[in-house]
Amino acid sequence: MTETLKIALLPGDGIGPEVMTVAAEILAELVSRFQLPVELQSFPWPSHDWHQQHGEMMPADGVDLLRGFDAILLGALGDPGPIDDPQRYVLSDSISLAPLLALRKELNLWACERPARWLPGAPQYLADSRANDVDMLVIRENSEGEYSNQGGRLRAGTPSEVATQVEVFTAGATERLIRHAFERARQRAAQRHSPRQFKGDKHAQVCLITKRNAQPFWGDLYTETFARIAREYPDVDTHHELVDAACMKFVQCPWRFDVVVASNLHGDILTDLAAVLCGGPGLAPSANLNPADERIPALFEPVHGSAPDIAGRNMADPRATLMSLAMLLDHLAPKHPAIGNAAQHLHDLIAEDMKHAFSGTRETGQRLSQRLAAG
Ligand code: NAI
Ligand code: MG
Repeated sequence: MTETLKIALLPGDGIGPEVMTVAAEILAELVSRFQLPVELQSFPWPSHDWHQQHGEMMPADGVDLLRGFDAILLGALGDPGPIDDPQRYVLSDSISLAPLLALRKELNLWACERPARWLPGAPQYLADSRANDVDMLVIRENSEGEYSNQGGRLRAGTPSEVATQVEVFTAGATERLIRHAFERARQRAAQRHSPRQFKGDKHAQVCLITKRNAQPFWGDLYTETFARIAREYPDVDTHHELVDAACMKFVQCPWRFDVVVASNLHGDILTDLAAVLCGGPGLAPSANLNPADERIPALFEPVHGSAPDIAGRNMADPRATLMSLAMLLDHLAPKHPAIGNAAQHLHDLIAEDMKHAFSGTRETGQRLSQRLAAG
C-alpha cells in the first residue's frame, strides 16, 4: 500500500499567510491532478496572533508535533506589519523569529540550500548579459556559527552595558557541511545537460567563503577542513573568497560561481544578494535539510521575511514560496514517482510564468491555477 505523506503548512506572519494561500491552493490542485499520496495540514502557529492569545509563538510541543510530518512549508515569520501602524501587536525579532531558529536546531536541519538561477523573463538588475547564466547553489551552515544564540547582556540598560554574542564552530558541523557541498557540486555537474567549465577542465566547483583574515579561529578551521575534504574530490575545482570580496564578485561576475559554502551569517546575507541576481526577494527559494537523515522532515521557505512594508497589500510575489514548494516536492519525489512529476510540472509552470511581470499576489495565484487547470 502506498504510504501517505504528511506536509505541514505554517503560514506565519506578514506576507507569509498571503503567499501561503497561493501555495496551498496550487499544492491542493497538484495533489488532485497528479493523485499524490499527500495529506496537508495547516497550523495557526508560529504567529503573532497565537502569541497574543497564548503568550507564546507556538505550543511547547510544536516541534515534536512537526517531527511527525514528512516535510514542512513555511511562509515567513517576523514583524506582521503593516509597518505604518504603530498600534499593531508586534514582538521583537528575538521572540518572533525564535521558532524558526528552534525548528532548524531542534530538528537538526544543519544545511540550508539556496539555489540562485535566473529564469528568462525575471527582472534583471545587472546590465551584463552573462548574468543571465547565473546558476549557483549557496549552502549555508544552519545549526551553529554566529546564530548559536549564546551570550548575554551585562548591566543591561546602563551606560556601562556589555553585550556578548558568542560564535560557535565545531569540527563535526564544519566537516559534514563542507562534505555535503562537494557532494552537491558533483551531483549538479552530473545532472547538467551542457557541462560548465572550471579550472583544470573540471565541471564543478565549490567556493568557500570565510572572513579568515579577521576571524582566524573559525576561518582556519573551515579552511583546513575544506582543503582536507577537497583532496577526496579531485574532479571538483575549489576556490576561496573572503566574504566582503564575495559580495563584490556576486555582483561583478556571479556566473563564475557554482556551489558556495558559507557560515550561517555569511550565507544569510549572501543569499539576499543572490536573490536579487535572480529577480528579487519574491523569486528566491530555500530548503533547510538534514542530508544525513531522511526521516527528519525538511523545512522549505522563501528566502524573504514577513515584509511588513507591503503586508496586506497584495504586493507579495508568491513565486518564491512556490519555488520552495517545488523543492519540497523534489525532496519527496524518491518516495513516489507521481510527486516527481508534480514537482517538474510546478517548476515548468513557474518558469513559463516568468514572462508575466508581477501583477499582484492573488492575480499571480489565479494565473498559475488557470494554467494548471488548462493542462
Ligand atoms: P524581508 O525579506 O521581509 O523584506 C525585505 C524587502 O524585500 C522589503 O522591502 C520587502 O517588501 C521585499 N520583499 C520581501 N518579500 C517579498 C515578496 N515576496 N515580494 C515582493 N517583495 C518582497 O526582510 P526585512 O524587511 O529585513 O525583515 C522583515 C521581517 O521579517 C523582520 O521581522 C525579520 O526579522 C523577518 N525575517 C524573517 C525571515 C524568515 O521568516 N525566514 C527571513 C528574513 C527576515
Ligand atoms: Mg535572511
